[in-house]
Amino acid sequence: MRLVFLGPPGVGKGTQAERIRAELDIPHLSAGDMLREAVRRGTEGGRKARAIMERGELVPDALIGEMIAEKLRALEGTKGFLLDGYPRNTAQVEALDAVLASLNARLDKALLLVAPEEEILRRLTLRRSCPSCGAVYHLAHRPPRGVGVCDACGARLVQRSDDTEEVVRSRLAVYRRQTAPIVEIYRRRGILAEVDGIGSADEVAARIRRALQDAAA
Ligand code: AP5
Repeated sequence: MRLVFLGPPGVGKGTQAERIRAELDIPHLSAGDMLREAVRRGTEGGRKARAIMERGELVPDALIGEMIAEKLRALEGTKGFLLDGYPRNTAQVEALDAVLASLNARLDKALLLVAPEEEILRRLTLRRSCPSCGAVYHLAHRPPRGVGVCDACGARLVQRSDDTEEVVRSRLAVYRRQTAPIVEIYRRRGILAEVDGIGSADEVAARIRRALQDAAA
């Protein structure tokens, strides 16, 4: 399966992508995680991306496009991947098409996760992340066992700098303006599956499983 995961910030893409990765045994390629790793390592790309990400805007297409292309080329001949957070605008759709064409591959499904913006705000402002192992929590829906500490590795949890209400509202505006239009491209190609992101993570996962079974049938 070659999948892309679309949907607004905080709708639950990362949470569900980790489940799909485990169930289908395909790598989860998260554009946001790649960029945060570049920022953490202080690479040239990371230095360029940092302030842009803190404002909730999109980093330059070429910067993220090259990171994604490199990962996809390394996966040539394997049984698939799940791209999360890429593409996010029409130029990125075209860039992804070109990389896949060069690898003689094509997408099987674009999964679109949807939820109302007020729910997204609640999810993101209460999200806490582990800076060490990347585990993701929610103070109400998925709290860590120990206060402020990662269950998996014991590191102190942090709030992402782009998860303040002001930046989340700006990320939502960027999504509406630049990313939402690409949904139609995948709908026209006949590979879009829209999944309701409201409900427990288990309920959403069951809907995604059904959408993928329909795709495989
Ligand atoms: P990125 O990290 O990709 O952020 P995003 O798309 O905004 O998505 P998030 O990671 O915030 O949310 P999610 O949908 O994965 O939700 P999650 O599962 O964590 O990108 C960050 C930045 O990098 C961008 O703003 C941009 O600057 C840059 N960037 C990235 N890709 C780029 C690109 N292609 N081009 C240019 N720039 C790019 O869930 C959220 C919370 O809700 C968690 O606390 C979780 O526990 C909770 N939750 C999940 N599911 C449920 C549920 N069913 N019920 C209740 N709570 C739930």
